[in-house]
Amino acid sequence: MTNSADEDLIIFSNVKKSYDGESYVVRGLNLNIRRGEFLTLLGPSGSGKTTTLMMLAGFETPTSGQIVFEGRQIDSLPPHKRGIGVVFQNYALFPHMSIANNVAFPLRMRGLPRQEIEARVLKALDMIRMKDFAQRMPGQISGGQQQRIALARALVFEPKLVLMDEPLGALDKQLREHMQLEIRHLHADLGITVVYVTHDQSEALTMSDRVGVFNDGVMQQVATPATLYEEPANLFVAQFIGENNAITGVVRSLTPQRCTLETADGTLIHALPGEALVLGGAAALALRPERLRLVGGVNDPEFENTCPATVQELIYHGGHVRLRAKACGHEDILVNIPNTGNISGMHKGDEIVLGWRCEDSRALVASS
Ligand SMILES: Nc1ncnc2c1ncn2[C@@H]1O[C@H](COP(=O)(O)OP(=O)(O)O)[C@@H](O)[C@H]1O
Ligand SMILES: [Mg+2]
Repeated sequence: MTNSADEDLIIFSNVKKSYDGESYVVRGLNLNIRRGEFLTLLGPSGSGKTTTLMMLAGFETPTSGQIVFEGRQIDSLPPHKRGIGVVFQNYALFPHMSIANNVAFPLRMRGLPRQEIEARVLKALDMIRMKDFAQRMPGQISGGQQQRIALARALVFEPKLVLMDEPLGALDKQLREHMQLEIRHLHADLGITVVYVTHDQSEALTMSDRVGVFNDGVMQQVATPATLYEEPANLFVAQFIGENNAITGVVRSLTPQRCTLETADGTLIHALPGEALVLGGAAALALRPERLRLVGGVNDPEFENTCPATVQELIYHGGHVRLRAKACGHEDILVNIPNTGNISGMHKGDEIVLGWRCEDSRALVASS
């Protein structure tokens, strides 16, 4: 039988955290983490991600509000009683224990039979491609390798919840991408719930079921990667996730279905309306570089929005060409043009026309 309490493994209710008793670094966090999901906390440095994870792990206490884990309030439960696997930035290994014994440690603590411990440790080391290092000491391997061992140690006892704070930051690109896939597969195979922290938006988008975007201690939006990209709740999310052309203007007409912006150079732009827009207020667009097209002329019937533009720069990326153009009163409008073989005729200084559909742009509240 399922009910809503079963689906939510963790519930943060109005959780606030202040370290100095004056300023809050987490401000009124409400967040439900579903059983079995891969949830990533994404945000710039200093936005409160680690603090949130620390409160969940039990290494920090909320200043106010509460955290419920499987229906129990855990604010006062010490870290080792929470049954949570953790991999934090620079989470140190036990220096006097071999790699194999480090990974075996959580299993010994739980009193598993020796044979099972050996099998599980081998499997965990194999997963991170470090089986040959089992008998080394932590001081005899690199920092990146130590972090992989920390990952194996957090996963080896198959905890219900695993917290990871930028665990792949120290690894080179190839290994990082390999580990991203491994962590994803492990998550799927073990049925564990993962709360993952990163400041790398592409890592967040590719790994997560849902992503919570933090800024300045405030959760901006919690949604699937596709929803964050297609329907950003506010300008911060639109700018932080992917690339965006934040063309600014004043709201001149507004219905629940669409709105019109007037840019500084007098261009009228039709867009979907975001939340809390007001007539006469300032707005900026969420408009992705790949949604802009080169069109035949300003009256192209396929596109509600057309705008004369001047080519500033063309950058060849192989599969697509990146065009930087002056348009709608902005110097740096980014356009990604798929490379279908006919782009060689364009040059810096060319006059072109850009077009996009109303539903490919969203007007979001901007500070004027
Ligand atoms: N132990 C601490 N004591 C005082 N201030 C802290 C402490 N840990 C973090 N902070 C401050 O809290 C804010 C949020 O930090 P943190 O949660 O580490 O952010 P993030 O992980 O998103 O980079 C930062 O301004 C940071 O300087
Ligand atoms: Mg951090």
